[in-house]
Amino acid sequence: MHYANKTLFDRAILRHTTLRNRLWRSATWLGLADTDGRVTTPIVETYRSLAAGGVGLIVTGLTSIASDDASIGGECKFYDESFIEGHCRLTEAVHRQGCPILLQTALVDGPIDTLTTLQVDQLVEAFGHAAQRAEKAGYDGVQIHAAHFFYLSKFISPLFNHRADRYAGAHILPAILAAMRSHTSDDFIVTMKINCSDEFPGGLTQQGFLEACRLVEGVDAIEVSANGTSRQGIRAGANEGSFLSAATALATTLDVSVALVGGLRSVDFINQVLDNTNISFVSLSRPLVCEPDLPNRWLQGNAAPSRCISCNSCYRTPGHQCVFNLKK
Ligand SMILES: Cc1cc2nc3c(=O)[nH]c(=O)nc-3n(C[C@H](O)[C@H](O)[C@H](O)COP(=O)(O)O)c2cc1C
Repeated sequence: MHYANKTLFDRAILRHTTLRNRLWRSATWLGLADTDGRVTTPIVETYRSLAAGGVGLIVTGLTSIASDDASIGGECKFYDESFIEGHCRLTEAVHRQGCPILLQTALVDGPIDTLTTLQVDQLVEAFGHAAQRAEKAGYDGVQIHAAHFFYLSKFISPLFNHRADRYAGAHILPAILAAMRSHTSDDFIVTMKINCSDEFPGGLTQQGFLEACRLVEGVDAIEVSANGTSRQGIRAGANEGSFLSAATALATTLDVSVALVGGLRSVDFINQVLDNTNISFVSLSRPLVCEPDLPNRWLQGNAAPSRCISCNSCYRTPGHQCVFNLKK
């Protein structure tokens, strides 16, 4: 099937939810959770303003689902029911602006080869219960974070996974998807973000990526990234769409909705991608850090590219703000 002739501001369906356009806010860790990993007012305000800026779907920053996980600093946690209330504030604020929101479920790090099969079963079940809690907190769905050298991306990488049991290769992914489906309602969206390459010798290749995606064809969408994410030196019209060829290959090969992330900066380029490929969604991180209302600006006819210069200073500012917009 060919799904070309699409444009950014089409309405689009993700599972049973209608999005007002094809633009996602790619998961972006804010570093603003309190010391227990709980949602704070600045987090709620950041997502409220993104939703008010017109984006079609928000994916939260990575949220750890285990109490004993490693930390990257100020990330949200969601490992038991006591976290639900804080996340309810967040989902309500975003929904009031007409925008659906997915929780990015993640583990930061942990052992792989030394876990027993039973221990991996328990970990899989923990992802299922995290999805269940996310639904209780009002999320429209979740994203499984299997990219950027966080735990699941290592788990499916031949560099790290030498298992010979049923969790060899990328087989943990369909198990997590099944656990999430079994604990959530039929409307609940489950997406995945995955590396199209580890960009390391001996790591996941594009062929391994396509094989991993084939295992989870029942997922509602796959967002295509790679370990070399947040590339610097992106210029509109010159070198946009860092992982376009892998995302196009996925959208051509499998019957799954594909979201392209990484280095998208202009509505002209985005519309070319949507018009010429089977890719269904596009996803932005740093351009929305820089201009949370970029979607509305483009919708209102100001098609100037994102003002983001891809300097990556936002990784180091309080609340991961754009260095040119710093409030404090
Ligand atoms: C400050 C910052 C935090 C990020 N946090 C996450 C995260 O929590 N989860 C994730 O999957 N990607 C994360 N990313 C990567 C982005 O989602 C995206 O894949 C990458 O920046 C490339 O897209 P861009 O060129 O539109 O910025 C982060 C990026 C930035 C700049």
